Amino acid sequence: MIPAPFKRYNGGKSGNGVYQTIINLLPPMSRFISPFVGNGGIERRFNLPANNYFFDTNPVVVNAWHTVLKGYNKKNPQQKIVIENRDGLTAIAAFKNTDKTTLIFCDPPYLFDTRVSQQKLYGVHEWSYEQHVKFLNMLKGSTCNIIITHPPHILYENMLTGWSIKDFTYINSAGNKCADRCWYNYPKPTILQDFTYLGNDYRERELIKNKTARHMAKLQRLPAAERNAILSAVINKYGNSSIINLLNNGSTNKQIP
Ligand SMILES: C[S@@+](CC[C@H](N)C(=O)[O-])C[C@H]1O[C@@H](n2cnc3c(N)ncnc32)[C@H](O)[C@@H]1O
Repeated sequence: MIPAPFKRYNGGKSGNGVYQTIINLLPPMSRFISPFVGNGGIERRFNLPANNYFFDTNPVVVNAWHTVLKGYNKKNPQQKIVIENRDGLTAIAAFKNTDKTTLIFCDPPYLFDTRVSQQKLYGVHEWSYEQHVKFLNMLKGSTCNIIITHPPHILYENMLTGWSIKDFTYINSAGNKCADRCWYNYPKPTILQDFTYLGNDYRERELIKNKTARHMAKLQRLPAAERNAILSAVINKYGNSSIINLLNNGSTNKQIP
C-alpha cells in the first residue's frame, strides 16, 4: 500500500466502510485517473493498474505525494504513477473520450448545502455552485468509465440522470452520521479491479474471505493436473474476456497458480 501523504485529511475516503464500498464499484481498468486526489483514500488501497495519473490544485498535497511516491515508485517500477499540480478538469477533458479501459474517479469538494458541518475545508480550493455545474457539464457524452462521490443533491440528480447510484453513510470528524453517494456511468460491475473488499459489511467480507480460503485450500491439495482441469473448466464456463485479461496482465495480486 502507498503510505498516506497526510495523517488526516478533510473529506478523505479512508473511513472504514467507505473505501470498501467505493473499491467494490471499480471495474477492471488499465488506466486510472484521479483528478482531485487529496490524501488518496481510495488510490492507496486498491490494486492500481499499470498507468495512473493523479491531480490536485493544492501544491502542498502534490509535494506530499512526491515524497511518498519516491520510495513507492522505486519498489514498483512496473507501475506508473504521475502526480501533477494541475486543475483536474483538464485531466477529465483529456481522458473523458477514451474507452472503458480508463476509469476516472472524481472526489471533488462537496457542495456546501450537502455538508453537515457547513465548514470550508479546502481554502482556495473550494468549489462554487457554478464550478459544480461546469464539472458536471464536462462529463456529458463521456465514453470512458467515470465514478463520482458526492452526496445526493438535486443538481447532481438532474445532471446525472441515468447514472447508476450507490448510497452509503459515514461518520464525520465531529461524530455525525452523514449520507453520501457514488454516481457511476456503467452498470454495477461483477468483475472488479480488486476483489479484496468484496461484501457489504465486515461480516459478509469475512464470510467471503473464508469461503475463498476453503476453496483455495481444496484446490491446493489436488494433484496439479486435476487442479488445472478444474481451473480450465471454470474459465471455460465463467471466464469472459475481461476477467481473463485481468488475470493474465497481472493487474491483480491474485495469479492463476
Ligand atoms: C474531497 S477532497 C479529495 C479527498 C480524497 N479522495 C481523499 O481520500 O483524501 C478534494 C480535493 O480536491 C482538490 N481540488 C479542488 N479543486 C480542484 C481542481 N479544480 N483540480 C484538482 N484538484 C482540486 C482539493 O485540494 C482536495 O484535495
